[in-house]
Amino acid sequence: MNESIHPGLEGITVAETRLSHIDGENGELVVCGFPIADLATNATYEESVFLLLHDRLPTADELAAFRADLASRRDLPDEVCAVLRRAAAEETPAMDALRMGIAAANLGPEGDASAANAAGADDSEALARRLVAVVPTIVATYWRYRQGATPVEPRDDLGHAANYLHMLTGDEPDDAAVRGLETYLSTVVDHGVNASTFTARTVVSTESDLVSAATAAVGSLKGPLHGGAPGPVLEMLRDVHELGDPAGYVKGKLAAGERLMGFGHRVYRVRDPRASVLESAAERLYAESADGDFFETVREFEAVAVEALADHSPDRRLDTNVEFYTAALLDGVGIPKELFTATFAVSRVAGWMAHCLEQRADNRLVRPDSRYVGATDREWTPADER
Ligand code: ACO
Repeated sequence: MNESIHPGLEGITVAETRLSHIDGENGELVVCGFPIADLATNATYEESVFLLLHDRLPTADELAAFRADLASRRDLPDEVCAVLRRAAAEETPAMDALRMGIAAANLGPEGDASAANAAGADDSEALARRLVAVVPTIVATYWRYRQGATPVEPRDDLGHAANYLHMLTGDEPDDAAVRGLETYLSTVVDHGVNASTFTARTVVSTESDLVSAATAAVGSLKGPLHGGAPGPVLEMLRDVHELGDPAGYVKGKLAAGERLMGFGHRVYRVRDPRASVLESAAERLYAESADGDFFETVREFEAVAVEALADHSPDRRLDTNVEFYTAALLDGVGIPKELFTATFAVSRVAGWMAHCLEQRADNRLVRPDSRYVGATDREWTPADER
């Protein structure tokens, strides 16, 4: 029997992937060969998704066709709208509504997900594109109902990021906000075998379907140790901006044994490179905004927190992770904090899908071992004698 146990699977390599590479010691992230800063500052989200699915950038014609294809897959079946309307009426949190919406996404014109799975690679990729296209519609439709407003129909003349903003507000999207969101979506589109991606790969390793994989991945992303951090980060930053004294705030949290949201990472031992990309994008956005002094607080808070965490945890370097500047950037873009994690899913669903297709192409059922530490040699007693 193998005696070594790896809780959290730390240091265990479970797959070969061509999708993204993380160097945690040096703070580097490469997506399909591109350093994340290059990809995120240049790519539209559609280009990033094409790159993940095809391992190359699209030509101009291919990009136009890919954009049009995604735009044609955005509509929601009435049944899903009904679920989202009910979820909003019950004040169900956004990630739970998204989980329900994705789970029902194969009610629509793509037909049965398992059939697509059996039919081969082309149909699987079409279903992957459907899931990428439909997640923003699910989130925006839920949010419109939550606001007591009518859902806004997707517009096929708008790109993925612009259309998402349009469906949330009903307004013509602002160029700076679209660029900020576009940068965010490409920055977080893939990140190795993180918890939600591993969840998705595990689901398809059983030869299950892509809708089931995406549904399970949403459940994994929701937790505060993974994608659930940016909402609390924004609340913390807004509190500090209002009350002042970031050093006192940080000291109080650490003294109480609480974790500072937006800091620390399982893989990075230095600043998360995505934090730098998002910081620059947020800086550009806030330079044009009336809320510029908030961004100064954000930066001051980061400096204070990193210093305090170094004192607090000298043996384990804790630095800024992606969620810290996600909060500032998405707030600047105009995304409500209740939708931060769901907006993460709007991007990451493409990474999940690409990993699922990769897993499927060279599959091995994911089935680790466990060591039994429970009771032994018990004798059964009938219920009336216990
Ligand atoms: N604030 C204060 N202390 C921390 C923090 C933090 N943000 N993160 C880790 N620590 C401390 C832990 O308390 C622990 O100390 P101990 O050994 O004295 O108990 C030590 O650092 C190691 O922590 P682990 O939990 O072993 O580190 P792990 O690799 O499992 O955690 C994680 C990584 C979950 C991201 C953690 O740093 C954390 O909880 N951060 C805050 C939440 C957050 O920002 N989540 C978003 C992550 S990014 C993403 O998933 C997209």
